[in-house]
Amino acid sequence: MIKTIGIVGSGQMGSGIAHVAAQNGFDVIISDVSDERVEEGFSHIAKNLDRMIQKEKISESDKELVLSRIQKTTHLQLMEEAQLVVEAASENVETKLALFEELEEITHEDTILATNTSSISITKIANATKRPDKVIGMHFMNPVPVMKLIEVVKGHLTSEQTYKAILEVSEKMGKTVVTAQDFPGFLVNRVLCPYINEAFFALESGIASAEDIDLAMKLGTNVPMGPLTLADFIGLDTVLSILEVLQRGLGDDKYRPSPLLRRYVDAGCLGRKVGRGVFHYE
Ligand SMILES: NC(=O)c1ccc[n+]([C@@H]2O[C@H](COP(=O)([O-])OP(=O)(O)OC[C@H]3O[C@@H](n4cnc5c(N)ncnc54)[C@H](O)[C@@H]3O)[C@@H](O)[C@H]2O)c1
Repeated sequence: MIKTIGIVGSGQMGSGIAHVAAQNGFDVIISDVSDERVEEGFSHIAKNLDRMIQKEKISESDKELVLSRIQKTTHLQLMEEAQLVVEAASENVETKLALFEELEEITHEDTILATNTSSISITKIANATKRPDKVIGMHFMNPVPVMKLIEVVKGHLTSEQTYKAILEVSEKMGKTVVTAQDFPGFLVNRVLCPYINEAFFALESGIASAEDIDLAMKLGTNVPMGPLTLADFIGLDTVLSILEVLQRGLGDDKYRPSPLLRRYVDAGCLGRKVGRGVFHYE
């Protein structure tokens, strides 16, 4: 029975996962590399809860209850109390492999170790532990409190028992699950990133302006934002790195990143997070 969820990394995703877990009754332990990072993540959660109070979705006492369920730490050792650990640290293979080796030592042998990676092989991460059957992908979408989906990714050796436990936790978090097999890009990014890439190729070829590409897809296919706006939102560096994973991992040049996308990244125009990508932001 999973009661306590450990979350490693208190950035954008880790803090969102902590918020949703605590709001749905789980005890949460969240860790990061420094007090500043942990505090940043925690105040991000508090701000999101304030916004929910303003919208009259929760009360002040609900907020206090949610925050009281979250324990902050810089000591990974505290993860020994968790029955499930969700790793949401930076997207770097070495970082994740080292963390899983450590979590293998720290946690109880029955503890499930999940990763929120967008693009690294679950099977490879699982192989850094002695319990690959208990390692699984839980790919939350950004922003976690808003987005309904969790893409659950089964590694080569993930057991049915682990999978079922994760389905149960996901449901308790109020999320809807799709299940994907462990191939590069899983399901969502396998479909999404080539679509975004094609929008950059279209822009590069002068087929239409950036504004018109986004307007066409918005009004023509009924999506809430166009592919270039979405790329700015995700981060152009992230989109580029996922396309590189697809091209390398699947060995197919149909995933070749658009040279224009690469040029934006080289110029430091990484999207919304830096105020400038395909479009400009205040
Ligand atoms: N941002 C997205 O849209 C998105 C969507 C789905 C999945 N993801 C995945 O979620 C993960 C986190 O992404 P993010 O956007 O939250 O990144 P982020 O940069 O906002 O946060 C990452 C956090 O991990 C911390 N960290 C690094 N090494 C650590 C360690 N050894 N121990 C503990 N903490 C450590 C960093 O200090 C940072 O606070 C990545 O694997 C990413 O691919 C991101």
